[in-house]
Amino acid sequence: MKIRKAIIPAAGFGTRFLPATKSQPKEMLSVIDRPLILYSVEEAVQSGIESIAIITSRGKSSMEDYFDSSPELERFLEEKGKLDYLKEVRRISGLAEFCYIRQKEALGLGHAVLMGEKFIGQEPFAVLLPDDIYDSHTPCTKQLIDAYDEYQASAIVLGRTDEEGTKMYGIVKPRQVTERVFQIEDLVEKPGPEKAFSDLASLGRYVFTPEIFEGIKKTKPDHRGEIQLPDGVKYVLEKQKVYGVLFEGDRYDCGDKMGFLEATISLALKRPEFSEGLKTFLKSLS
Ligand code: G1P
Repeated sequence: MKIRKAIIPAAGFGTRFLPATKSQPKEMLSVIDRPLILYSVEEAVQSGIESIAIITSRGKSSMEDYFDSSPELERFLEEKGKLDYLKEVRRISGLAEFCYIRQKEALGLGHAVLMGEKFIGQEPFAVLLPDDIYDSHTPCTKQLIDAYDEYQASAIVLGRTDEEGTKMYGIVKPRQVTERVFQIEDLVEKPGPEKAFSDLASLGRYVFTPEIFEGIKKTKPDHRGEIQLPDGVKYVLEKQKVYGVLFEGDRYDCGDKMGFLEATISLALKRPEFSEGLKTFLKSLS
């Protein structure tokens, strides 16, 4: 079955970015000239996704405006002859079909994904966590969709991590299938270095069969009262195979201020219009 739909959870308070996020969504903070969420939306679209449900919450409606049309702005740009901007603004509102679902309480990532159950129905779908920006020849979500097509099973993006990463990410117990593909035998959320099965972390992109919703419903809230997504995946593992794909490309973790700064600088260095000037500036600092 073709994967047409995606869920992008974007309902959190963005506390790690305060005070910037006091009255604006973290997902709308700009990495160079585009809001964080646009990177995930474009990756989804480039991977063949047609409909996207953004899981949102109170005070975050600027995301809805962003992917809507902007008639006044468009008229203004047309009158001023700023046609490149006009093209870009129109392109963004036409990227996909968007649906917004409000998560009323911050009950965790698993719960946020469950909010999309009706939107998804009975078909496989992708989940993209907007904190992660991937820059790769084959879009990261497409790498997962290719694995889904081959194995007809859920697939999770994996990357190598270090001791610190075992406290930040879900860590998998892998059984190697090919150079880049692993069958996942178990998955534990943020186990820490002592309890980590391996150095392979789950890094923010998933393709799920609809069974994940049953798994999330059966998951009990953790000590913080949150329903975690990996616990739902553990349930799916009891019924079906789940694969992990070691992604090819670059990943930037914009989940905290330092990662956000690194992403901004690294991505700007890749842009021809900024790279020389930025390199000269950075050298002048040392
Ligand atoms: C979430 C997931 C975790 C995953 C991580 C990837 O954690 O629960 O399994 O490794 O995203 O970025 P969060 O970053 O929301 O705490």
